[in-house]
Amino acid sequence: MKMLVTGGAGFIGSHLVDRLVKEGHRVAVIDNLSTGQKKFINPRAKFYKLDLAKANLKGVFAKEKPEVVFHLASQKSVPFSLAHPLEDATNNIWGSLKLLENCLKFKVKKFIFTSTGGAIYGPAKEIPSKETTLERPLSPYGLSKLTVDNYLKNFYQAVKKLNGVSLRLSNVYGPRQDPQGEAGVIAIFINNLIKNKPCYIDGSGLQTRDFIYVEDVVGACLKAIKNGSGIYNVGTGKETSVKYLYHLIAGLISEKKPLFREPRQGDVFRSVLKIAKAKKELKWQPKIDLLRGLKLTVDYFKKRL
Ligand SMILES: NC(=O)c1ccc[n+]([C@@H]2O[C@H](COP(=O)([O-])OP(=O)(O)OC[C@H]3O[C@@H](n4cnc5c(N)ncnc54)[C@H](O)[C@@H]3O)[C@@H](O)[C@H]2O)c1
Repeated sequence: MKMLVTGGAGFIGSHLVDRLVKEGHRVAVIDNLSTGQKKFINPRAKFYKLDLAKANLKGVFAKEKPEVVFHLASQKSVPFSLAHPLEDATNNIWGSLKLLENCLKFKVKKFIFTSTGGAIYGPAKEIPSKETTLERPLSPYGLSKLTVDNYLKNFYQAVKKLNGVSLRLSNVYGPRQDPQGEAGVIAIFINNLIKNKPCYIDGSGLQTRDFIYVEDVVGACLKAIKNGSGIYNVGTGKETSVKYLYHLIAGLISEKKPLFREPRQGDVFRSVLKIAKAKKELKWQPKIDLLRGLKLTVDYFKKRL
């Protein structure tokens, strides 16, 4: 099939493109390389260096005629969104709506969006959080993702009959994640332990997250080509504390003790997703357990750092 992947030079997007190419699809990538890297783009994919929020996308759609559009490009930094809410909205809301308008115009068969679980459910009253759990976003980033989820569900799907899926991802980790970013605790711990740099745990370390390996996210994206419609949580359903996570990673690299510092303002204490809906309707479930995923990730970084 003909696929278009926005954000295909990024961490998750580049793994998705690799898999689509491997499965014999024709793939085009749109990316502005703001956080993505050209070297991550599969050489068999056609690359358009464009900014979704600024460029006229008609030419790409007319040329590529994509049947499926995966929309992963986004500004994904919570602190950046707090400091620059207009830029966040321009990228994440305006850029997404422009893409969706082109999907309608060019009769795309399926639109698959990578939304977020943690930043949308926020300090959730219901743990694990379901797709129906009351959303409590604490940042413009969470709000912008929720806004696109709502446009997709209530306008593009309900009114315009575009077939769409929104995947609310938990905390994704794996090869190619940027260890210099402010997010991605696994990449940061691995990088610092390999380089024998101090590792900081914010707060007590008892805060929890739902860590999912990148190939499992790619698996959910692939299932969404044929299955599902609407919003799905994509995580493992398992809650892991940052302290225990550190212990697992240190066990694979070096037994260096972590340092503790003040908790980060606005950080949610518990975050884990219920994935029953994705299991049932997407016919997907994660396959890689945390220890195996960590080993694969450590191996990758050991070869490159
Ligand atoms: N990594 C996670 O844990 C996580 C969790 C929940 C949701 N998500 C979502 O998954 C998607 C991919 O995340 P990632 O971790 O791979 O991030 P990433 O930063 O590695 O990838 C995003 C890509 O989008 C590109 N991009 C950004 N703005 C663009 C624009 N205006 N036009 C064109 N390209 C643009 C970047 O250059 C980059 O290659 C994002 O939408 C993110 O919000 C990620």
